[in-house]
Amino acid sequence: MGTQDSDEQAGGGTGRRALLGAAVLGAGGAVLGLPGTARATDARRGGGHGGGVKSLPVPTVIGHRGASGYRPEHTFGSYELALDLGADIVEAGDLVPTRDGHLVCRHEPEIGGTTDVADHREFADRRRTKSLDGVSVTGWFTEDFTLAELKTLRATERIPANRPHNTLYDGRWEIPTFEEVLRWQNEQTRRRGKQVWIYPELKHPTYFRKLGLGTEERLARLLRKYGKHRKNSPVIIQSFEPTSIQRMNKLVDNPLAVLLSGANSRPWDFVETGDPRTTADLVTPEGLKEIASYAQGIGPTLDLIIPKDSAGRLTEPTTLVRDAHRAGLILHPYTMRNENPFLPAEFRKGDDPDAYGDVFGAFRTYFATGIDGVFTDNPDTGLLAREDFVNS
Ligand code: G3P
Ligand code: CA
Repeated sequence: MGTQDSDEQAGGGTGRRALLGAAVLGAGGAVLGLPGTARATDARRGGGHGGGVKSLPVPTVIGHRGASGYRPEHTFGSYELALDLGADIVEAGDLVPTRDGHLVCRHEPEIGGTTDVADHREFADRRRTKSLDGVSVTGWFTEDFTLAELKTLRATERIPANRPHNTLYDGRWEIPTFEEVLRWQNEQTRRRGKQVWIYPELKHPTYFRKLGLGTEERLARLLRKYGKHRKNSPVIIQSFEPTSIQRMNKLVDNPLAVLLSGANSRPWDFVETGDPRTTADLVTPEGLKEIASYAQGIGPTLDLIIPKDSAGRLTEPTTLVRDAHRAGLILHPYTMRNENPFLPAEFRKGDDPDAYGDVFGAFRTYFATGIDGVFTDNPDTGLLAREDFVNS
């Protein structure tokens, strides 16, 4: 249902992922292997107590929407399992606002795909068709609900066709607020005796600002309230809209990351402000240098690291890892998933779309490019892959 960023559609989404432009191609095998090998020992770093991003193991394993390969995404069930499985950071959460201004954890404002709202007859008349970042979307939207109303809903599995087992947990968990996440982070840190990191993402900030629901100030206020607004706070903030990250840079001192979608895509804030640049412009050395003036990292789609051909097979790595590191930026690309449809074609095994492919082979290939971490729906798989990688 997402507009700019979702990559969870079965089939690998190759049609939505444009190959990187010639400007950033060309490093080929020269990139493969070297930076990854050099940084592999960093995985033995650990802890995270007050040491900032540099204290995290590298490559860092980030639980995407929690452990969404095993539980309905953006629930405390998913977040907690990610920690149980050993994720270094939990993506808690993708943030959208309610009508009364609370930040809640959903991947997009439309909640028909991830909750039981359609079963609530009292909300039948809230169904709308809206233009979300230029895309017509029909369903139920968080901005039309109060927090109290949203709390009567329960989360459901987003992709039951691929993850039928996860539907076992449909109806079990409510939608978390970000304030609850901040308290949960403290509680889990105490309970586990280890600093828990989170990686919230501001979703559709321009869309919400136009509705009078600016999200950056709300996020900054909550971070300050809980003393998590500092450079070394265990909270990394991400957004697909560079101007949103620039806004956050003025409000808090947390590490910040600019998300990057397909090379030919254009961040929605750029569309609204008339900035003609596309992602291909942002991943040039000049574009990266500018990002480094207000952010510490980028979160590119994996296809910007290694583009795929028309058959969905990996081609040669781009120079993005090298160029971003030269600009002083770390890279946390998205998203690794175990199931066949989400893997590069050469790592798929058999025809069953629910079956796991050779995800360890895919991890090995991506880690070898020198990325600093990766978002994955399956943190346990990511951790084993990292172990293989650092010991190879
Ligand atoms: O936040 C990194 C990654 O999550 C971006 O993709 O669509 O899952 O939010 P998305
Ligand atoms: Ca996200």
